[in-house]
Amino acid sequence: MVRIENSKILITGGAGFIGSNLADALIKDNEIVVVDDLSMGKIENLPKSHDLHFFEHSITDYKFMSDLLVEWKFDYIFLLAAVASVADTIERPLETHEVNQNANINILETIRTNKLPLKKLLFSSSAAVYGNNPELPKKETSPIDPLSPYAIDKYATERFVIDYGKLYDIPTVATRFFNVYGPKQNPKSPYSGVLSLVIAAIKNKATFTVFGDGKQTRDFINVKDVIYALRLLAVSSDAIREVYNVGCGTQNSLETVVKIIEEESNEKLAINYEKERTGDIRDSVACTKKIKALGFKPSVDLREGLHSYLVGNTD
Ligand code: NAD
Ligand code: UD1
Repeated sequence: MVRIENSKILITGGAGFIGSNLADALIKDNEIVVVDDLSMGKIENLPKSHDLHFFEHSITDYKFMSDLLVEWKFDYIFLLAAVASVADTIERPLETHEVNQNANINILETIRTNKLPLKKLLFSSSAAVYGNNPELPKKETSPIDPLSPYAIDKYATERFVIDYGKLYDIPTVATRFFNVYGPKQNPKSPYSGVLSLVIAAIKNKATFTVFGDGKQTRDFINVKDVIYALRLLAVSSDAIREVYNVGCGTQNSLETVVKIIEEESNEKLAINYEKERTGDIRDSVACTKKIKALGFKPSVDLREGLHSYLVGNTD
């Protein structure tokens, strides 16, 4: 197990899906500050502890964020706050750009201008940066082809994070997550992660809409494995000023995953088909060689992960 202890940790977007799973994993041995505007996150997601300090605030409040960083002098910073839906950023490109890019540059700029000491800053980028480039699996060196404001902001911020690291000697890393699933993913919006919507539809006996033919593929990775990857990248001295794919390296169609969920729940999903979404990616799967070289190995099998998500899910 990779240990992070006795550290002051900032998690932006920490009340959300990945952020709250990360807070759960780190709270026992550390002091954690979460900044989240609760647009998608929930306060109930957070562990209850004296060592968890929650601020309901937007990261777009530059003064608030700068003062917080200067006051706390964090050891580790996990930048997870974002409007995480590709489709939502197509609806609201300028507004989401403020969150997904500019607010993160303010954080980097505060670190630079105040020469804040830091063990590692990790930025959550996305497999969306690869777009529909036909090369599979997607390698960190594959050409990028951002198809949405979401992907453009993720790529640009990734570059800011890496280049601030190089130019101003800041220990940074960017992670390109593939499709993460697991407990605490919020199905409240039609733009939520697809597996949270499938599982909510199964539980509520509601109709699920497939956009396109259901044969689009994704590399689904359990949040447990993502948390392991984040911890590993945070402590690894070799992981510095670099970009890493975080996926399992396995490609499954939406159709296949729906079938697994039906089998594991013994329920039949009512499906309605609609036209493919604009800006949607057809096929996605990670080359995981680079992160595996640091010792990463995904441990959760997709069927088992979906089964425990179904059993444990309370939404
Ligand atoms: P999420 O929506 O559950 O978490 C994001 C959190 O950020 C939410 O709690 C939301 O309330 C918060 N937030 C949004 N705007 C904010 C603002 N202006 N100020 C403060 N907080 C704000 O999504 P997630 O799946 O946990 O994603 C976490 C990060 O990982 C995001 O950056 C996302 O783009 C990235 N990512 C996720 C996936 C995935 O499959 N879930 C894949 C690739 C990348
Ligand atoms: C997801 C993440 C994004 C991340 C990217 C990395 C969310 C909301 N999106 O985007 O943050 O950067 O993975 O690969 O967490 N679909 C349906 N019906 C629905 C919803 C979705 O058919 O009701 C389809 C979509 O059209 C898409 C696929 O399912 O083809 C996956 O959708 P979604 O979960 O939104 O994921 P990505 O767009 O891949």
